[in-house]
Amino acid sequence: MADRIPHLRKQGSATQLVVDGQPFLILGGELHNSSASSLEYMEPIWGRMVDLHINTVLLPISWELLEPDEGSFDFTLVDGLLDGARRHGLRLILLWFGSWKNGMSSYVPAWVKRDTARFPRIALSDGSTLEVLSTLAAANVEADARAFAALMRHLAVVDADQHTVIMAQVENEVGVLGDSRDRSETANQAFQGPVPDRLLDYLEANLARLGPEVRERWTAAGARTAGSWEEVFGPGVETDALFMAWTYASYVDKVAAAGKVEYALPMFVNAWLSFDTQAPGSFPSGGPLPQVIDIWCAAADHLDLLTPDIYQANFEEWCRRYTRNGSPLFIPEMRPGADGARNVWYAIGQHDALGTSPFAVDSLGVPGVQELIGGDPLTGPGDTPLARSYAVLDQLAPLILEHQGTGAMAAFLLDKTTPRVVRQIGGYELTIALDEVFHFKAELGYGLIIAVGPDTFVGAGSGFRVAFRALDVRAQKVGLIAVDEGVYREGQWVAGRRLNGDEDDQGRMWRFSPYGISIERCSVYRYSSISGTVH
Ligand code: DGJ
Repeated sequence: MADRIPHLRKQGSATQLVVDGQPFLILGGELHNSSASSLEYMEPIWGRMVDLHINTVLLPISWELLEPDEGSFDFTLVDGLLDGARRHGLRLILLWFGSWKNGMSSYVPAWVKRDTARFPRIALSDGSTLEVLSTLAAANVEADARAFAALMRHLAVVDADQHTVIMAQVENEVGVLGDSRDRSETANQAFQGPVPDRLLDYLEANLARLGPEVRERWTAAGARTAGSWEEVFGPGVETDALFMAWTYASYVDKVAAAGKVEYALPMFVNAWLSFDTQAPGSFPSGGPLPQVIDIWCAAADHLDLLTPDIYQANFEEWCRRYTRNGSPLFIPEMRPGADGARNVWYAIGQHDALGTSPFAVDSLGVPGVQELIGGDPLTGPGDTPLARSYAVLDQLAPLILEHQGTGAMAAFLLDKTTPRVVRQIGGYELTIALDEVFHFKAELGYGLIIAVGPDTFVGAGSGFRVAFRALDVRAQKVGLIAVDEGVYREGQWVAGRRLNGDEDDQGRMWRFSPYGISIERCSVYRYSSISGTVH
Protein backbone atom coordinates (compact mmCIF):
# COMPACT_ATOMS: atom_id res chain seq x y z
CA MET A 1 0.00 0.00 0.00
CA ALA A 2 2.74 2.44 1.01
CA ASP A 3 4.22 2.64 -2.49
CA ARG A 4 0.84 3.59 -3.89
CA ILE A 5 0.72 6.84 -1.93
CA PRO A 6 1.77 9.77 -4.11
CA HIS A 7 5.53 10.06 -3.69
CA LEU A 8 8.63 11.61 -5.17
CA ARG A 9 11.23 9.80 -7.25
CA LYS A 10 14.36 10.75 -9.18
CA GLN A 11 14.62 10.55 -12.94
CA GLY A 12 18.10 11.59 -13.98
CA SER A 13 18.68 15.00 -12.45
CA ALA A 14 14.95 15.67 -11.99
CA THR A 15 12.59 14.92 -9.13
CA GLN A 16 9.16 13.71 -10.20
CA LEU A 17 5.87 13.33 -8.38
CA VAL A 18 4.45 9.86 -8.91
CA VAL A 19 0.67 9.49 -8.67
CA ASP A 20 -1.00 6.11 -9.20
CA GLY A 21 2.32 4.71 -10.39
CA GLN A 22 2.83 7.33 -13.12
CA PRO A 23 4.84 10.56 -13.13
CA PHE A 24 2.50 13.53 -12.84
CA LEU A 25 2.94 17.11 -14.05
CA ILE A 26 1.10 19.53 -11.78
CA LEU A 27 -0.78 22.08 -13.87
CA GLY A 28 -2.03 23.72 -10.75
CA GLY A 29 -3.88 26.76 -9.54
CA GLU A 30 -4.34 28.11 -6.05
CA LEU A 31 -7.68 29.48 -4.90
CA HIS A 32 -8.31 32.69 -3.00
CA ASN A 33 -7.87 32.07 0.72
CA SER A 34 -11.55 31.91 1.67
CA SER A 35 -13.13 30.13 -1.32
CA ALA A 36 -12.75 26.57 -0.04
CA SER A 37 -14.29 27.35 3.36
CA SER A 38 -17.76 26.92 1.82
CA LEU A 39 -18.82 23.96 -0.30
CA GLU A 40 -21.65 25.99 -1.75
CA TYR A 41 -19.30 28.78 -2.78
CA MET A 42 -17.02 26.17 -4.36
CA GLU A 43 -19.69 24.55 -6.52
CA PRO A 44 -19.35 26.84 -9.58
CA ILE A 45 -15.58 27.08 -9.13
CA TRP A 46 -14.82 23.43 -9.87
CA GLY A 47 -16.00 23.71 -13.47
CA ARG A 48 -13.98 26.89 -13.94
CA MET A 49 -10.87 24.96 -12.88
CA VAL A 50 -11.58 22.40 -15.60
CA ASP A 51 -12.08 25.19 -18.15
CA LEU A 52 -8.66 26.57 -17.16
CA HIS A 53 -7.11 23.14 -17.95
CA ILE A 54 -5.96 22.98 -14.35
CA ASN A 55 -5.43 19.41 -13.18
CA THR A 56 -4.65 20.18 -9.51
CA VAL A 57 -6.32 22.69 -7.22
CA LEU A 58 -4.38 24.08 -4.26
CA LEU A 59 -6.73 25.01 -1.46
CA PRO A 60 -6.50 25.69 2.27
CA ILE A 61 -7.67 23.46 5.08
CA SER A 62 -7.68 25.62 8.17
CA TRP A 63 -7.06 24.54 11.74
CA GLU A 64 -9.97 26.71 12.99
CA LEU A 65 -12.55 24.88 10.85
CA LEU A 66 -11.01 21.42 11.31
CA GLU A 67 -10.81 21.53 15.13
CA PRO A 68 -13.34 24.14 16.29
CA ASP A 69 -13.31 22.62 19.79
CA GLU A 70 -10.20 21.07 21.19
CA GLY A 71 -9.99 17.37 20.35
CA SER A 72 -13.16 17.44 18.25
CA PHE A 73 -12.52 17.27 14.52
CA ASP A 74 -14.96 18.14 11.77
CA PHE A 75 -14.12 16.58 8.42
CA THR A 76 -17.29 17.63 6.61
CA LEU A 77 -15.51 20.30 4.63
CA VAL A 78 -12.53 18.08 3.77
CA ASP A 79 -14.84 15.32 2.55
CA GLY A 80 -16.92 17.76 0.53
CA LEU A 81 -13.84 19.21 -1.14
CA LEU A 82 -12.59 15.71 -2.00
CA ASP A 83 -15.98 14.95 -3.48
CA GLY A 84 -16.05 18.17 -5.53
CA ALA A 85 -12.57 17.52 -6.89
CA ARG A 86 -13.38 13.91 -7.77
CA ARG A 87 -16.59 14.83 -9.57
CA HIS A 88 -14.51 17.09 -11.81
CA GLY A 89 -11.50 14.79 -12.30
CA LEU A 90 -9.23 17.12 -10.34
CA ARG A 91 -6.43 16.43 -7.86
CA LEU A 92 -5.87 18.49 -4.74
CA ILE A 93 -2.91 19.86 -2.84
CA LEU A 94 -4.00 20.78 0.67
CA LEU A 95 -2.52 23.90 2.24
CA TRP A 96 -2.45 23.44 6.01
CA PHE A 97 -3.29 26.86 7.45
CA GLY A 98 -2.29 25.90 10.98
CA SER A 99 -0.18 28.01 13.32
CA TRP A 100 0.81 30.50 10.63
CA LYS A 101 -0.49 32.02 7.44
CA ASN A 102 1.46 34.95 5.93
CA GLY A 103 3.36 35.28 9.20
CA MET A 104 0.16 35.68 11.21
CA SER A 105 -1.84 33.22 13.31
CA SER A 106 -5.28 34.19 12.10
CA TYR A 107 -6.33 30.61 11.28
CA VAL A 108 -5.75 29.07 14.72
CA PRO A 109 -8.98 27.99 16.49
CA ALA A 110 -10.68 30.31 18.99
CA TRP A 111 -9.61 28.09 21.91
CA VAL A 112 -6.00 28.72 20.91
CA LYS A 113 -6.48 32.43 20.21
CA ARG A 114 -8.03 33.05 23.60
CA ASP A 115 -5.51 31.10 25.69
CA THR A 116 -2.38 33.23 25.53
CA ALA A 117 -1.00 31.66 28.71
CA ARG A 118 -1.08 28.11 27.36
CA PHE A 119 -0.23 29.08 23.78
CA PRO A 120 2.47 31.79 24.01
CA ARG A 121 2.95 34.49 21.38
CA ILE A 122 5.88 36.21 19.77
CA ALA A 123 6.96 39.46 21.49
CA LEU A 124 8.52 42.69 20.27
CA SER A 125 11.40 44.50 21.96
CA ASP A 126 8.99 46.87 23.74
CA GLY A 127 7.47 43.90 25.52
CA SER A 128 4.22 43.90 23.53
CA THR A 129 3.05 40.63 22.04
CA LEU A 130 1.94 39.96 18.46
CA GLU A 131 -1.08 37.89 17.48
CA VAL A 132 1.41 35.30 16.33
CA LEU A 133 2.14 31.94 17.96
CA SER A 134 5.64 31.50 19.36
CA THR A 135 7.86 29.01 17.56
CA LEU A 136 9.41 28.01 20.87
CA ALA A 137 6.41 26.80 22.89
CA ALA A 138 5.97 23.02 23.09
CA ALA A 139 2.21 23.48 23.65
CA ASN A 140 1.87 25.31 20.32
CA VAL A 141 3.64 22.78 18.17
CA GLU A 142 2.03 19.83 19.93
CA ALA A 143 -1.48 21.20 19.42
CA ASP A 144 -0.82 22.04 15.76
CA ALA A 145 0.84 18.67 15.08
CA ARG A 146 -2.09 16.81 16.68
CA ALA A 147 -4.56 18.57 14.39
CA PHE A 148 -2.46 18.06 11.25
CA ALA A 149 -1.96 14.39 12.16
CA ALA A 150 -5.74 14.03 12.50
CA LEU A 151 -6.16 15.47 9.01
CA MET A 152 -3.61 13.09 7.53
CA ARG A 153 -5.10 10.13 9.43
CA HIS A 154 -8.46 10.97 7.90
CA LEU A 155 -6.96 11.17 4.41
CA ALA A 156 -5.31 7.78 4.93
CA VAL A 157 -8.82 6.36 5.34
CA VAL A 158 -10.85 8.31 2.81
CA ASP A 159 -8.24 8.82 0.08
CA ALA A 160 -6.02 5.74 0.25
CA ASP A 161 -7.49 4.33 -2.97
CA GLN A 162 -8.23 7.38 -5.09
CA HIS A 163 -5.27 9.64 -4.24
CA THR A 164 -7.18 12.81 -4.90
CA VAL A 165 -4.78 14.60 -2.56
CA ILE A 166 -1.27 14.42 -3.98
CA MET A 167 0.77 16.69 -1.68
CA ALA A 168 0.39 18.87 1.41
CA GLN A 169 1.79 22.29 2.19
CA VAL A 170 2.56 22.65 5.90
CA GLU A 171 1.72 26.18 7.17
CA ASN A 172 1.86 29.17 4.82
CA GLU A 173 4.56 31.82 4.33
CA VAL A 174 5.92 31.62 7.85
CA GLY A 175 8.21 34.18 9.47
CA VAL A 176 8.17 37.15 11.84
CA LEU A 177 6.78 40.40 10.46
CA GLY A 178 7.53 43.69 12.16
CA ASP A 179 10.85 42.67 13.69
CA SER A 180 13.80 40.52 12.66
CA ARG A 181 13.18 38.05 15.49
CA ASP A 182 11.03 37.14 18.45
CA ARG A 183 12.09 39.26 21.48
CA SER A 184 10.26 37.29 24.18
CA GLU A 185 12.22 36.15 27.22
CA THR A 186 12.19 32.55 25.96
CA ALA A 187 13.44 33.63 22.55
CA ASN A 188 16.17 35.86 24.03
CA GLN A 189 17.44 32.97 26.11
CA ALA A 190 17.50 30.62 23.13
CA PHE A 191 19.22 33.28 21.03
CA GLN A 192 21.92 33.79 23.65
CA GLY A 193 22.25 30.03 24.18
CA PRO A 194 24.33 27.67 22.02
CA VAL A 195 23.60 27.11 18.35
CA PRO A 196 22.35 23.49 18.23
CA ASP A 197 25.00 20.87 17.36
CA ARG A 198 22.74 19.48 14.67
CA LEU A 199 23.00 22.75 12.75
CA LEU A 200 26.74 23.13 13.28
CA ASP A 201 27.37 19.54 12.18
CA TYR A 202 25.30 20.21 9.07
CA LEU A 203 27.29 23.34 8.20
CA GLU A 204 30.59 21.48 8.59
CA ALA A 205 29.47 18.47 6.58
CA ASN A 206 27.94 20.57 3.77
CA LEU A 207 30.33 23.51 3.52
CA ALA A 208 30.82 23.17 -0.24
CA ARG A 209 27.07 23.03 -0.85
CA LEU A 210 26.01 25.92 1.36
CA GLY A 211 24.39 28.98 -0.16
CA PRO A 212 26.62 32.04 -0.32
CA GLU A 213 24.69 33.96 2.37
CA VAL A 214 25.01 31.36 5.13
CA ARG A 215 28.52 30.30 4.11
CA GLU A 216 29.83 33.87 4.12
CA ARG A 217 28.28 34.78 7.47
CA TRP A 218 29.55 31.62 9.10
CA THR A 219 33.10 31.79 7.68
CA ALA A 220 33.38 35.56 8.26
CA ALA A 221 32.65 34.92 11.94
CA GLY A 222 35.41 32.27 12.03
CA ALA A 223 33.52 29.09 11.03
CA ARG A 224 33.15 28.31 14.73
CA THR A 225 31.75 24.94 15.75
CA ALA A 226 30.35 26.17 19.07
CA GLY A 227 28.91 29.37 20.47
CA SER A 228 25.82 31.55 20.64
CA TRP A 229 24.03 32.66 17.47
CA GLU A 230 25.89 35.97 17.36
CA GLU A 231 29.22 34.27 18.09
CA VAL A 232 28.74 31.75 15.31
CA PHE A 233 27.16 34.03 12.68
CA GLY A 234 28.10 37.54 13.82
CA PRO A 235 25.70 40.26 14.97
CA GLY A 236 22.98 41.73 12.73
CA VAL A 237 19.44 41.24 11.54
CA GLU A 238 20.58 38.51 9.14
CA THR A 239 21.63 36.42 12.12
CA ASP A 240 18.22 37.05 13.69
CA ALA A 241 16.71 35.62 10.50
CA LEU A 242 18.94 32.53 10.73
CA PHE A 243 17.83 32.00 14.32
CA MET A 244 14.16 32.38 13.40
CA ALA A 245 14.64 30.04 10.42
CA TRP A 246 15.95 27.37 12.80
CA THR A 247 13.00 27.73 15.18
CA TYR A 248 10.36 27.82 12.41
CA ALA A 249 11.94 24.91 10.53
CA SER A 250 12.17 22.79 13.69
CA TYR A 251 8.53 23.51 14.52
CA VAL A 252 7.18 22.91 11.00
CA ASP A 253 9.24 19.74 10.75
CA LYS A 254 7.53 18.37 13.87
CA VAL A 255 4.12 19.14 12.37
CA ALA A 256 5.07 17.48 9.06
CA ALA A 257 6.54 14.46 10.87
CA ALA A 258 3.35 13.96 12.87
CA GLY A 259 1.36 14.06 9.62
CA LYS A 260 3.67 11.68 7.80
CA VAL A 261 3.33 9.06 10.51
CA GLU A 262 -0.34 8.91 9.55
CA TYR A 263 -0.10 9.37 5.80
CA ALA A 264 3.24 10.02 4.15
CA LEU A 265 2.32 12.41 1.35
CA PRO A 266 5.10 14.62 -0.07
CA MET A 267 5.13 17.79 2.04
CA PHE A 268 6.47 21.26 1.47
CA VAL A 269 6.66 24.81 2.79
CA ASN A 270 6.33 28.03 0.79
CA ALA A 271 8.20 31.31 1.06
CA TRP A 272 7.14 34.96 0.88
CA LEU A 273 10.14 36.30 -0.99
CA SER A 274 12.10 39.46 -0.26
CA PHE A 275 12.96 42.37 -2.48
CA ASP A 276 16.64 43.30 -2.67
CA THR A 277 16.70 46.20 -0.26
CA GLN A 278 14.42 44.70 2.35
CA ALA A 279 15.55 43.71 5.83
CA PRO A 280 14.22 40.60 7.61
CA GLY A 281 11.01 41.61 9.35
CA SER A 282 9.75 43.64 6.40
CA PHE A 283 9.37 40.21 4.78
CA PRO A 284 8.71 37.24 7.08
CA SER A 285 11.98 36.75 8.96
CA GLY A 286 12.97 33.09 9.12
CA GLY A 287 10.77 31.87 6.26
CA PRO A 288 12.34 29.43 3.76
CA LEU A 289 14.06 32.02 1.58
CA PRO A 290 17.33 31.32 -0.26
CA GLN A 291 19.21 33.46 2.28
CA VAL A 292 18.46 30.94 5.04
CA ILE A 293 17.56 27.80 3.13
CA ASP A 294 20.53 25.83 4.48
CA ILE A 295 19.10 26.27 7.97
CA TRP A 296 15.79 24.78 6.82
CA CYS A 297 17.64 21.87 5.17
CA ALA A 298 19.51 21.18 8.41
CA ALA A 299 16.39 21.27 10.59
CA ALA A 300 13.59 19.82 8.50
CA ASP A 301 14.06 16.21 7.33
CA HIS A 302 10.34 15.70 6.88
CA LEU A 303 9.88 18.42 4.30
CA ASP A 304 10.40 17.25 0.73
CA LEU A 305 10.39 20.65 -0.96
CA LEU A 306 11.11 24.25 0.01
CA THR A 307 9.20 26.34 -2.48
CA PRO A 308 8.98 29.97 -3.60
CA ASP A 309 5.84 32.06 -4.11
CA ILE A 310 7.14 34.08 -7.06
CA TYR A 311 5.25 37.32 -7.58
CA GLN A 312 8.44 39.23 -8.41
CA ALA A 313 9.42 40.26 -11.93
CA ASN A 314 12.75 38.37 -11.94
CA PHE A 315 11.06 34.99 -12.20
CA GLU A 316 14.01 33.20 -13.78
CA GLU A 317 16.43 34.26 -11.08
CA TRP A 318 14.20 32.91 -8.29
CA CYS A 319 13.84 29.61 -10.16
CA ARG A 320 17.62 29.39 -10.38
CA ARG A 321 18.08 30.20 -6.70
CA TYR A 322 15.60 27.52 -5.65
CA THR A 323 17.20 24.82 -7.81
CA ARG A 324 20.71 25.21 -6.39
CA ASN A 325 22.36 21.81 -5.71
CA GLY A 326 19.73 20.15 -7.89
CA SER A 327 16.86 20.94 -5.51
CA PRO A 328 13.44 20.20 -7.02
CA LEU A 329 11.23 23.12 -8.01
CA PHE A 330 7.52 23.54 -7.39
CA ILE A 331 5.85 26.95 -7.47
CA PRO A 332 2.70 26.97 -5.33
CA GLU A 333 1.98 30.66 -5.99
CA MET A 334 2.80 33.00 -8.86
CA ARG A 335 1.01 35.66 -10.84
CA PRO A 336 -2.13 34.39 -12.58
CA GLY A 337 -2.25 36.76 -15.57
CA ALA A 338 -0.47 36.82 -18.90
CA ASP A 339 3.05 36.93 -17.41
CA GLY A 340 2.30 33.95 -15.16
CA ALA A 341 0.98 32.08 -18.19
CA ARG A 342 4.37 32.62 -19.89
CA ASN A 343 6.43 31.84 -16.80
CA VAL A 344 4.91 28.38 -16.33
CA TRP A 345 6.70 27.32 -19.53
CA TYR A 346 10.07 28.36 -18.17
CA ALA A 347 9.69 26.66 -14.77
CA ILE A 348 8.48 23.40 -16.30
CA GLY A 349 10.72 23.29 -19.38
CA GLN A 350 13.96 24.71 -18.06
CA HIS A 351 13.95 23.55 -14.44
CA ASP A 352 11.99 20.29 -14.60
CA ALA A 353 9.51 21.75 -12.12
CA LEU A 354 7.06 19.31 -10.57
CA GLY A 355 4.55 21.89 -11.62
CA THR A 356 3.26 25.42 -11.25
CA SER A 357 0.30 27.04 -9.56
CA PRO A 358 -0.74 30.63 -10.20
CA PHE A 359 -2.68 32.22 -7.33
CA ALA A 360 -6.29 33.45 -7.35
CA VAL A 361 -7.28 31.28 -10.28
CA ASP A 362 -10.92 31.33 -9.24
CA SER A 363 -10.97 34.95 -10.42
CA LEU A 364 -9.53 34.18 -13.83
CA GLY A 365 -11.89 34.89 -16.66
CA VAL A 366 -14.60 36.16 -14.33
CA PRO A 367 -15.78 39.45 -15.87
CA GLY A 368 -15.40 42.37 -13.50
CA VAL A 369 -13.08 40.46 -11.18
CA GLN A 370 -10.19 39.53 -13.41
CA GLU A 371 -9.33 43.20 -13.96
CA LEU A 372 -8.50 43.54 -10.26
CA ILE A 373 -5.67 41.03 -10.53
CA GLY A 374 -4.37 42.25 -13.85
CA GLY A 375 -5.28 41.02 -17.29
CA ASP A 376 -7.92 41.64 -19.89
CA PRO A 377 -11.60 41.41 -19.16
CA LEU A 378 -12.41 38.18 -20.93
CA THR A 379 -15.50 36.19 -21.47
CA GLY A 380 -14.60 33.07 -19.57
CA PRO A 381 -11.80 31.06 -17.91
CA GLY A 382 -11.16 28.98 -21.05
CA ASP A 383 -10.12 32.17 -22.89
CA THR A 384 -7.44 33.28 -20.46
CA PRO A 385 -3.70 33.16 -21.13
CA LEU A 386 -3.30 30.57 -18.38
CA ALA A 387 -5.93 28.29 -19.92
CA ARG A 388 -4.19 28.57 -23.29
CA SER A 389 -0.79 27.69 -21.81
CA TYR A 390 -2.10 24.82 -19.72
CA ALA A 391 -4.14 23.39 -22.62
CA VAL A 392 -0.93 22.92 -24.60
CA LEU A 393 1.21 21.83 -21.65
CA ASP A 394 -1.44 19.24 -20.87
CA GLN A 395 -1.03 17.78 -24.38
CA LEU A 396 2.74 17.76 -23.94
CA ALA A 397 2.80 16.40 -20.39
CA PRO A 398 3.74 12.78 -21.28
CA LEU A 399 6.60 14.00 -23.49
CA ILE A 400 7.79 16.49 -20.87
CA LEU A 401 7.73 13.88 -18.12
CA GLU A 402 9.58 11.38 -20.32
CA HIS A 403 12.39 13.88 -20.91
CA GLN A 404 12.67 15.45 -17.44
CA GLY A 405 16.13 15.11 -15.97
CA THR A 406 17.71 13.89 -19.22
CA GLY A 407 19.19 17.17 -20.47
CA ALA A 408 17.07 16.98 -23.63
CA MET A 409 14.66 19.82 -22.78
CA ALA A 410 15.10 23.59 -22.70
CA ALA A 411 12.79 26.53 -22.14
CA PHE A 412 13.07 30.29 -22.42
CA LEU A 413 11.42 33.67 -21.91
CA LEU A 414 12.21 36.35 -24.47
CA ASP A 415 11.52 40.08 -24.41
CA LYS A 416 13.20 43.35 -25.41
CA THR A 417 15.81 42.97 -22.65
CA THR A 418 16.57 39.34 -23.50
CA PRO A 419 15.68 39.01 -27.20
CA ARG A 420 17.77 35.88 -27.71
CA VAL A 421 19.12 32.91 -25.75
CA VAL A 422 21.31 29.96 -26.64
CA ARG A 423 20.56 26.42 -25.48
CA GLN A 424 22.33 23.13 -26.24
CA ILE A 425 20.19 20.03 -26.59
CA GLY A 426 20.20 16.90 -28.77
CA GLY A 427 23.72 17.50 -30.09
CA TYR A 428 22.86 20.95 -31.47
CA GLU A 429 23.24 24.51 -30.37
CA LEU A 430 19.92 26.33 -30.70
CA THR A 431 19.82 30.10 -30.97
CA ILE A 432 16.31 31.04 -29.94
CA ALA A 433 15.26 34.62 -30.66
CA LEU A 434 12.16 36.78 -30.80
CA ASP A 435 10.39 35.96 -34.03
CA GLU A 436 10.61 38.38 -36.92
CA VAL A 437 9.48 38.23 -40.49
CA PHE A 438 9.57 40.97 -43.08
CA HIS A 439 8.92 44.16 -41.03
CA PHE A 440 7.26 42.46 -38.12
CA LYS A 441 9.05 41.71 -34.83
CA ALA A 442 7.46 39.92 -31.87
CA GLU A 443 7.79 41.68 -28.50
CA LEU A 444 7.46 38.60 -26.34
CA GLY A 445 8.41 34.99 -26.87
CA TYR A 446 8.23 31.90 -24.68
CA GLY A 447 8.19 28.17 -24.98
CA LEU A 448 10.07 24.95 -24.65
CA ILE A 449 11.92 22.61 -26.99
CA ILE A 450 12.58 18.91 -26.51
CA ALA A 451 15.11 16.84 -28.48
CA VAL A 452 12.91 13.78 -29.00
CA GLY A 453 15.21 11.74 -31.22
CA PRO A 454 18.18 11.98 -33.57
CA ASP A 455 17.92 15.28 -35.46
CA THR A 456 14.30 15.65 -34.34
CA PHE A 457 12.78 18.26 -32.05
CA VAL A 458 9.37 19.10 -30.68
CA GLY A 459 8.77 22.71 -29.73
CA ALA A 460 5.83 24.60 -28.32
CA GLY A 461 5.18 28.20 -27.47
CA SER A 462 4.77 31.56 -29.08
CA GLY A 463 6.73 34.37 -30.75
CA PHE A 464 10.16 32.80 -31.29
CA ARG A 465 12.37 31.42 -34.02
CA VAL A 466 15.17 28.88 -33.81
CA ALA A 467 18.45 28.58 -35.72
CA PHE A 468 20.50 25.39 -35.37
CA ARG A 469 24.24 24.76 -35.30
CA ALA A 470 25.81 21.32 -35.06
CA LEU A 471 27.89 20.87 -31.94
CA ASP A 472 30.08 18.03 -33.14
CA VAL A 473 31.45 19.14 -36.53
CA ARG A 474 31.63 22.90 -36.66
CA ALA A 475 32.21 23.16 -40.40
CA GLN A 476 28.82 21.61 -41.04
CA LYS A 477 25.72 23.65 -41.50
CA VAL A 478 22.27 22.60 -40.43
CA GLY A 479 19.21 22.73 -42.64
CA LEU A 480 15.57 22.06 -42.00
CA ILE A 481 14.14 18.90 -43.48
CA ALA A 482 10.56 19.56 -42.47
CA VAL A 483 8.46 21.46 -39.97
CA ASP A 484 4.94 20.31 -39.12
CA GLU A 485 2.47 21.84 -36.78
CA GLY A 486 0.16 19.52 -34.92
CA VAL A 487 -1.37 18.39 -31.67
CA TYR A 488 -0.91 15.53 -29.24
CA ARG A 489 -4.02 13.42 -28.71
CA GLU A 490 -3.63 11.05 -25.77
CA GLY A 491 0.11 11.26 -26.19
CA GLN A 492 0.09 10.55 -29.96
CA TRP A 493 1.32 13.14 -32.45
CA VAL A 494 -1.28 14.17 -35.02
CA ALA A 495 0.27 16.33 -37.73
CA GLY A 496 -1.57 19.30 -39.20
CA ARG A 497 -0.15 21.78 -41.69
CA ARG A 498 3.30 21.32 -43.24
CA LEU A 499 5.00 24.64 -42.52
CA ASN A 500 7.22 25.92 -45.30
CA GLY A 501 7.66 29.17 -47.18
CA ASP A 502 7.01 32.22 -45.03
CA GLU A 503 6.17 29.97 -42.09
CA ASP A 504 9.75 28.70 -41.86
CA ASP A 505 11.43 31.68 -43.48
CA GLN A 506 11.85 29.71 -46.74
CA GLY A 507 13.59 26.83 -44.94
CA ARG A 508 15.97 29.00 -42.94
CA MET A 509 14.28 29.20 -39.52
CA TRP A 510 12.03 27.12 -37.30
CA ARG A 511 9.35 29.69 -36.43
CA PHE A 512 6.55 30.00 -33.87
CA SER A 513 3.98 32.65 -34.61
CA PRO A 514 3.28 35.20 -31.83
CA TYR A 515 -0.45 34.79 -32.55
CA GLY A 516 -1.36 32.00 -30.17
CA ILE A 517 0.56 28.98 -28.94
CA SER A 518 1.52 26.22 -31.33
CA ILE A 519 3.15 22.82 -31.16
CA GLU A 520 5.56 22.00 -33.97
CA ARG A 521 7.79 19.09 -34.86
CA CYS A 522 10.98 19.81 -36.72
CA SER A 523 13.60 17.55 -38.31
CA VAL A 524 17.01 18.82 -39.37
CA TYR A 525 19.99 17.60 -41.35
CA ARG A 526 23.62 18.59 -41.60
CA TYR A 527 25.34 19.55 -44.81
CA SER A 528 28.87 20.58 -45.57
CA SER A 529 29.27 24.26 -46.30
CA ILE A 530 32.35 23.39 -48.36
CA SER A 531 31.51 20.46 -50.63
CA GLY A 532 27.71 20.37 -50.45
CA THR A 533 27.83 16.72 -49.31
CA VAL A 534 24.75 15.72 -47.37
CA HIS A 535 25.22 13.57 -44.23
C1 DGJ B 1 0.55 34.99 -0.48
C2 DGJ B 1 -0.20 34.06 0.43
O1 DGJ B 1 0.51 32.86 0.61
C3 DGJ B 1 -1.58 33.77 -0.13
O2 DGJ B 1 -2.29 32.97 0.79
C4 DGJ B 1 -2.30 35.07 -0.38
O3 DGJ B 1 -2.47 35.77 0.80
C5 DGJ B 1 -1.49 35.88 -1.38
N1 DGJ B 1 -0.19 36.15 -0.83
C6 DGJ B 1 -2.20 37.19 -1.70
O4 DGJ B 1 -1.55 37.82 -2.73
